[in-house]
Amino acid sequence: MNNPIRLMATAMIADNSFTRISPRQLQHYLLRTTYKPQTWLTFAGTTNILESRDNVQTVNHLEHNLNYAYDSVYSNTLECYTASPALPSAGTAPPVCVAAGTPLLSTGYYNQPTQYGVIGFMLAPVKRLHVNAGYRMSAVNGNSDFINARQVPGTLQSQYQTPYAHLAFDLAPGWTWKADYNYYSFGEGTPIGPTLPRSFRGNVYTLAVRYAFQLSRASVIFARLTSIRSITMLKNITRAGAIGLAVFFASVTSLAQTPGADTYKAKCQMCHGPDGLGNTPAGKAMKAIPFNSPDVLKESDTDLIAVIKNGKGKMPAFAGKIADAQITDVVAYIHTLQKK
Ligand code: HEC
Repeated sequence: MNNPIRLMATAMIADNSFTRISPRQLQHYLLRTTYKPQTWLTFAGTTNILESRDNVQTVNHLEHNLNYAYDSVYSNTLECYTASPALPSAGTAPPVCVAAGTPLLSTGYYNQPTQYGVIGFMLAPVKRLHVNAGYRMSAVNGNSDFINARQVPGTLQSQYQTPYAHLAFDLAPGWTWKADYNYYSFGEGTPIGPTLPRSFRGNVYTLAVRYAFQLSRASVIFARLTSIRSITMLKNITRAGAIGLAVFFASVTSLAQTPGADTYKAKCQMCHGPDGLGNTPAGKAMKAIPFNSPDVLKESDTDLIAVIKNGKGKMPAFAGKIADAQITDVVAYIHTLQKK
């Protein structure tokens, strides 16, 4: 862990100004910490404290912003205003405001306590499958000074929830199949104004096949097809789905190009390794000779076929276990490994 704890502190004071400035004093502290007891487990915490005030007569402004997954935004300030008729809660403003034509006084406040929560899992239950799922939510239960009778609390009283799940499956080197699901739900609390609370919900499914390859040093995404479905978008998904399948079949044909590769992977690779160098646990234990060593390079195809059919030392015999045509193909595939 390079930087387990980071602290940032800011302070400012402004004074002797002829115009109102807000804030005149400010303090900001930001503390972040991370703790990683295991490679697969990270705890992270943030404390963010912002205090600012403008405490001169006729303004008396005070504000803070604190968050540590619980985020409290609060502000309180005196306001001089004019309205007809005057609100029942209006007080009498100081002479400076009366002279300016805004004779009513109110304490304007804004309170936005917000709670955040996130929980997420990343799993790889089998080698080529990656699962990533979790739940995020934020909830606000705040209020404000309502000088306008038609104003509604809106986002000051609301809940937002977004559970998600992502699946990724490695089909072949470079090829990944992906499926994502995201749900969005936003709902506002009871209104005090004339409009109904707003709410929306969304289901987003994404299906994609991705092919990535290396070109010099830049990784280039060759094809990425995405279909986003909601009830109104059903027509599009069928089309995008068909293109997705076309790309998928293209990838299958490109895999089938080298005959012998499949047999090699299924029957030989556990000892000889994907590169033919024998760097696997079984290959090392039995001393599987690298295919590019001079002893193997000088052997003819007939010699190699004989070894594969009859075995040699700890190398098992494959006669009767795989067809002669497959053995010929595997020998051709071994030559491609010898050239690498
Ligand atoms: C259980 C482990 C194992 C498996 C499976 C295996 N091999 Fe081998 N292979 C060996 C070992 C060990 C040697 C070294 C034998 C020696 O020189 O004594 C070897 C040697 C070879 C050689 C070099 C032969 C020579 O004359 O030096 C070739 C070619 C070869 N294997 C091909 C294959 C092919 C093709 C397959 C799959 C059809 C396969 N092997 C499966 C263990 C294995």
